[in-house]
Order: sequence, then C-alpha cells, then structure tokens
Amino acid sequence: MVDPTTAFSEVPSSWNRRHLLGLEDLTSEELTTLLDVAERFRQFMREGHRRLPLLSGKTCVNLFFENSTRTRTSFGVAARRLGADMIDFSAATSSLSKGETVIDTAKNLEAMGIEAVIVRHQTPGTPHLLAQNLNCCVINAGDGPHEHPTQGLLDILTIRQRFGRIEGLTVALVGDISHSRTARSNIWGLKKLGAHVIVCGPSTLVSPRWAELAVEYSYDLDSILPRVDVLNLLRIQFERQLTRPFPSVREYAHLYGMNRERLSRTKPSILVLAPGPINRGVEVATDVADGPHSAILDQVTNGVAVRMAVLWLLIAGGLNRSKAS
Ligand code: CP
Repeated sequence: MVDPTTAFSEVPSSWNRRHLLGLEDLTSEELTTLLDVAERFRQFMREGHRRLPLLSGKTCVNLFFENSTRTRTSFGVAARRLGADMIDFSAATSSLSKGETVIDTAKNLEAMGIEAVIVRHQTPGTPHLLAQNLNCCVINAGDGPHEHPTQGLLDILTIRQRFGRIEGLTVALVGDISHSRTARSNIWGLKKLGAHVIVCGPSTLVSPRWAELAVEYSYDLDSILPRVDVLNLLRIQFERQLTRPFPSVREYAHLYGMNRERLSRTKPSILVLAPGPINRGVEVATDVADGPHSAILDQVTNGVAVRMAVLWLLIAGGLNRSKAS
C-alpha cells in the first residue's frame, strides 16, 4: 500500500530541475528518481485511487502544434488527478494565424498565471527556446525527431516493471530510427541505466553513425531476434520523410513487421512494446499487438503515472525551491 502522506510528502531533495527537455542531459540518478516516483503513482492508481491533490490550484497548458492522442490526453489526466487545472491550447484557432510567434503566444499564456507549459512542436529545440524565454516549467512533449522524454520514461518504466531492472537487458528499437524522437529518448535513458541497445531497420532509416552513441545497429531483424529481451516497434513516420525509404509498405512488413512466426523465434520472456499510434499489419501484426507478450496498453497506463511524476517533481520542486530562497 502506498501511504500518500509519506510517499509524496516532499519532492526528493536531490531533484533540482525546472524543465524536462530531454533524457540526454539527465543523470542516471535523476532518471531513477523519475521512475521511482512514477512507480509510486502507478501503485497508488493500482490500489484504486484516482485523485491526489498535490498540485491543487496550479494551472498547466497543453501547447500542442502537432496531433496527439496519448501524450496530450495523458498529461491532461495526470494534471487533473493531481488537482491541477489543464488548459488545452488549440493552435488552429489561436492568434498564431495572425502572425503571433510561438514565444509571444507562450509568454501571453504565462502572463495569465500558469505553472507549466507542455509543448509539442515539429521543430526540434522549440521546448528549449521556450525554457529560455519563460519563467514557468517547460516540458517537452515531442520536438520533431529530436526527443520525446516522457515516452522514453514510460517505455523504460514498463520494461523495469516486467524485468525488475534495466541493467544487462538487450533492447531492440525496430523501424524508422532516423525520424524517431522516441528512439532518441529511449537510447539516452536505456544506455544510462545500463541496457544494451540495438537499432534495427532498413539502411535508409538506420545510419551506421548510431554506433557513435555506443549503440549496435542492424539491418537484419531475424538475426537479432533470439538475443533480445525487449522489442520496441516504431511506426514509419511518413509525415517526416521527403522520399519513400523503401519500395512498398508490404516489403517493409515482410522484412521488419513483427508477426507470430517471428515472435516464435524470440526468448519466451520477450516483451513487445510500441509507442503508438500503431499501424496494424505494418510494424506489428494484430495477434502480436493484442497478444500476451504485448504491453502496449500498459505503456499507456504508465504514461499517466510518468506524467504525474514529471508534473509533481517539476512544479512542487520549484515551489519548494522558491520557498527556500
Ligand atoms: N506515443 C505518442 O506520442 O502518441 P501521440 O502522438 O498520440 O501523443
């Protein structure tokens, strides 16, 4: 049982961040703090609790310039479970169409009295730009192909729940590595926590230069299947590609799609993840996506816990620092 009066009585004193812009610049200790706090929120929800008003009276803004189902909604659920208000900004109906910049838009929202901006933008570095120009917390909800830190955290939390550790595991990220912010955040987080990472996909989407990050690369999914503990199946991001990276989707599915036959050649304990949205029949067959090895919907549930942890650590941690100074 999680006792909220002790489990969430105060933000760990080692936590000293105002923004979450990526996993690249976090230490392994900070990653572990985030995962441990998220696990406590997850356990609290498992016990049937819905609300824990640790951020009562606080306001967050979802500032999304790209479509989203999971990230946007789960930040909203996480904020409300913590007692905070969430404002959903709509870029399409905003004054951006009248020439207002992203920074001015965010500054105007901040002037209304908000504690956190959660930003998704197609341009890498947008969250970093906002962090330089705002006083409130800034959380990266995906900046182009650069990083998607809360997705990386929820993937890693799901792996840790299944195996009880990250160190020593072999995790394969399969698919469109070139355009994947999820791949980058997973690589930074998993490597810092001691996993071996393989990036796998067509040579047009997997550069040998990934080896510079101490990551193994492969173009041959079948050859790596017997030695991986986790398969994280990434969507082909056609919307980010200027030219088609392979002749046909059918050919991609034939070489890299995870199906029942391929699954039979993996370890019995294989864990199958996919950040979503999934394209059934392309990167994953329906019987694998919905099968016993899949944790795709557990990832979504963990996403709420991870985002509760991020909001609480950043907002409550910042309030504690301003009280102390
Ligand atoms: N995984 C993920 O980021 O999904 P959404 O694009 O739906 O938020």
